[in-house]
Amino acid sequence: MTHLRGRDISLTVAQQDTIDSESDSMLEQALQKSIQAAADNLLRGGVVAFPTETVYGLGADATNPEAVRRIFEIKGRPPNHPLIVHIAHASLLDQWAREIPEAARRLAERFWPGPLTLILRRQRHVPDAVTGGQDSVGLRVPNHPLALELLRALGPEHGLAAPSANRFGRISPTRAEHVREELGEAVDMVLDGGPCQVGLESTIVSFVGGKPQLLRPGSIGVAEIEAVLGEPLAGARHDAPRAPGMLPAHYAPNTPVWLLSADKLEIEAHRRLAQGQRIAALTLSVAALPEGCVRQIMPPDPTDYARELYARLRAMDATGCDAILVEAPPQQAAWQAVLDRLERAARAALEQGDSADA
Ligand code: TXA
Ligand code: MG
Repeated sequence: MTHLRGRDISLTVAQQDTIDSESDSMLEQALQKSIQAAADNLLRGGVVAFPTETVYGLGADATNPEAVRRIFEIKGRPPNHPLIVHIAHASLLDQWAREIPEAARRLAERFWPGPLTLILRRQRHVPDAVTGGQDSVGLRVPNHPLALELLRALGPEHGLAAPSANRFGRISPTRAEHVREELGEAVDMVLDGGPCQVGLESTIVSFVGGKPQLLRPGSIGVAEIEAVLGEPLAGARHDAPRAPGMLPAHYAPNTPVWLLSADKLEIEAHRRLAQGQRIAALTLSVAALPEGCVRQIMPPDPTDYARELYARLRAMDATGCDAILVEAPPQQAAWQAVLDRLERAARAALEQGDSADA
């Protein structure tokens, strides 16, 4: 490809088009080959990391309990934590779930392929290894061309059981290199689909306990879901996310994270620098920070912020600083998913025993 592009400088526009489509088709063939290799590997019981629009997944054939168990080993995840099964199309829902409420079908129809996971009663054949022994299963059709091609190559009777492709409790990967850095040789293959467009894990709605319930906020917001359901979602707060203290620690970098208002962030940065600590700061509006802070300014739009967040946290983690100070985004519905992840990361720091005055 590079070779072809290097040669074509003096060509006319028409010729250039021909060469581009030639190189595109070479690229397309190479991609098809990797997808087929990944599908073959999965059908033999392998574990393959693949891109989705949310984060990279660590996939195994959902009909193969041995293969699924390897995911838990690689992640270091407790075996009773259920996995999401990724499927190619909403028409395959009944193959995995039973007693599907009409409202769940409406959500699938409206948001799939897309960043929404539905928790439904499972079909009996869905392995315990996938569901953590529960009578329910999480299902989603990812909105990424590579993931969809991979699912089609696997065939309609298979699905991809996949959690995020990170070690248990750590930040989800939003680029192929994150997966390679974190899991390296432990996975059989990493399919590179570029940076994830959404950047945060899917919204999860459960239909197993009576009323539909929000289990995890994501880029598809509560209001959008309620508009389709025609009723309020249980467990969802419209104005503000849940209290940080109630959230289990998760999605955390190794470095302690502090979620602070702009004022407190400045004070805390000064205090820690005076103690000789090295500080990284993820800010939105803070104008001035003391000399010596590693600083990243985040995009003001929640969608852009979400897309960047995990890569920035990883980069800050890699600087070897003593703390990451994050300016809290506004307590608004549009920020719910971002706030949820930041609060969990900050919660992990509290549990690790770091302390802030602020
Ligand atoms: O965007 C996403 O959802 C990504 C991509 C790869 O699809 N996946 C992801 O998977 O975030 P994971 O395993 O990191 O998080 C899935 C969450 C877990 O908190 C799990 O407990 C919940 O989904 N879950 C899965 N199946 C469930 C079930 N049957 N009942 C309740 N919760 C379930
Ligand atoms: Mg995860």
